[in-house]
Amino acid sequence: MWGVFFEDINFGADGGLYAELVKNRGFEFPDPLMGWTTISPSLARGVVTIRTDGPFAAGNPHYVRLQSDAKTPFGLSNEGFRGMGVRQGEAYDFSVEVRGVAGAPALTVQLYGGDGALLDATVLRGFTDGWRRYTATLHPHDTDPKARLAVLVTGAGTLDLDFVSLFPEKTWKNRPGGLRDDMVQALADLHPGFMRFPGGCIVEGSVLSRRYQWKHTIGPVESRPLLINRWNYEFLHRPTPDYFQSFGLGFFEFFQLCEDIGAQPLPIVNCGMACQFNSAELCPLDALGPFIQDALDLIEFANGPATRGWGAKRAAMGHPAPFGMRLLGVGNEQWGLEYFARYEKFARAIKDRYPEIALVSAAGPSPDDPRFHLAWQRLRALHADIVDEHSYALPDWFYANTHRYDHYDRGGPKVFMGEYAAQSIGVVSVKNRNNLDCALAEAAYLTGLERNADVVRMASYAPLFANTEAWQWTPDLIWVDSLRVLRTPSYYVQQLYARNRGDRVLPIALGGVAAADQRRVFASATLDVAARQVILKLVNAAPQAWAVAVSLAGIGEVTAGTITVLSSDGLDDQNTMADPGRVAPRTRAFAPARPEFDLVLPAHSFSVVRVGLAP
Ligand code: AHR
Repeated sequence: MWGVFFEDINFGADGGLYAELVKNRGFEFPDPLMGWTTISPSLARGVVTIRTDGPFAAGNPHYVRLQSDAKTPFGLSNEGFRGMGVRQGEAYDFSVEVRGVAGAPALTVQLYGGDGALLDATVLRGFTDGWRRYTATLHPHDTDPKARLAVLVTGAGTLDLDFVSLFPEKTWKNRPGGLRDDMVQALADLHPGFMRFPGGCIVEGSVLSRRYQWKHTIGPVESRPLLINRWNYEFLHRPTPDYFQSFGLGFFEFFQLCEDIGAQPLPIVNCGMACQFNSAELCPLDALGPFIQDALDLIEFANGPATRGWGAKRAAMGHPAPFGMRLLGVGNEQWGLEYFARYEKFARAIKDRYPEIALVSAAGPSPDDPRFHLAWQRLRALHADIVDEHSYALPDWFYANTHRYDHYDRGGPKVFMGEYAAQSIGVVSVKNRNNLDCALAEAAYLTGLERNADVVRMASYAPLFANTEAWQWTPDLIWVDSLRVLRTPSYYVQQLYARNRGDRVLPIALGGVAAADQRRVFASATLDVAARQVILKLVNAAPQAWAVAVSLAGIGEVTAGTITVLSSDGLDDQNTMADPGRVAPRTRAFAPARPEFDLVLPAHSFSVVRVGLAP
């Protein structure tokens, strides 16, 4: 029910989850030296050229040639993703592809702090006239959020360099070239039931040639072709010219991550439509074959036998066992007749071969407009499995929609609330804040999803991650900088739902609250069968505390449990890097004597009450 939606927006992958510290490591950006600066102290003399003849990997055609006349070391320095975060006491794996061209120079590798202080250095030598990978380990003697990496030709001569890389040794599960440990931990701590990936609009691309193609994201990292990220240029008010997709976090890594954190993978494939907010380019219906084949091959990549076809490619990457994928999304946020025609073709082909895969279909970007209603009408007629609804709206929308699903058709497709977030100011406003006000509105709305869990099968907040120095969209669930991870009040709402998920929905009635005031109190109840606990979720959105009388009718004897409360002094309160725990849940023991008990719901609060059932 409670999952996460990962999209590479706000530097979510490169500069985020993917732990690579070097930006444009392969010199493949359209400006091949973006992110790099020539280090040319007064006495240094040298030439930097970008070349493509005889690259070390065909999929990574550009490399840099550094020619030095050796008065003093000469070369390049990389700025990282708005600075490299390095920690004292930790090790960093440096690697580079080098080809000796002339002379016998050494290569000096230096890590600098933001203030220019040298943090560590090493020297590599003995280059041959063929490409070879050289490695070293750096140990910064200080922690720095804005470090830089320099590679300097030392001695007269010429070297070709490519794929200059620096990774923390400490990654998630210590995988070399892996993911940021602290960011994955934040995901794992959410206990997500599923992960939707890789988008979002990046699945669609602004034009079809820039769509997300999963086959380009597997295999050796140097053969994954770079793609411009559509969030690079989407918002004129938030231009991000250095935003590209290296696909170091590719589909294999996504599946692996899902497995690590116990989340069902929900990949989304392009359905032959580019983003309808951009070009809305269409692949003609009679040319959809390769798009549909990509979807079928993806299922084989995830679930097929290790001995052949795409399953063998998965096995070659180190995972012979199937990933057990059961869900697949066809298109992101598509709308209109063009979509249903394409969805139908995908659905027929996929269900023919893989009837066990549940398909997620799109209902457009709005939760209530003609596009949305047409989608439901058509998708119902097509017997779609799961319809993906999206809502970015003011907190009031979420309060007003807590009963949205009470009367949904129980015989039709199931609902996936695939993207939602309360916006404190308005959609795409750069002033939106992740404050308590938004988090409470989401918590209230989720009581309605939980009460209707027979029809709403899944829900995920969006977007998931944002880099404080390179974001395009706010609000976001988790903010990061180069060294820190910040959990928002909305994060804690998600976590409280996912960690207090019952197995059965219990009927609940709110009584004795005057009609006007009732709108400010929201509740749901579930039963955790294994733990033998009743779980109540209670939101008090009013500015005063409420004393409520709870009656667990028909429950029998009760035992001890807990109360967890998320609240703060004011609705505008948020967490910041300087004050990360300002709005955070607090848990205390709770031992009611009887199944009827009194509770005080603090003003502006979300409470989760767990009550044990006597054996
Ligand atoms: O979450 C940000 C964007 O919002 C997603 O890419 C898209 O699906 C929606 O419009």
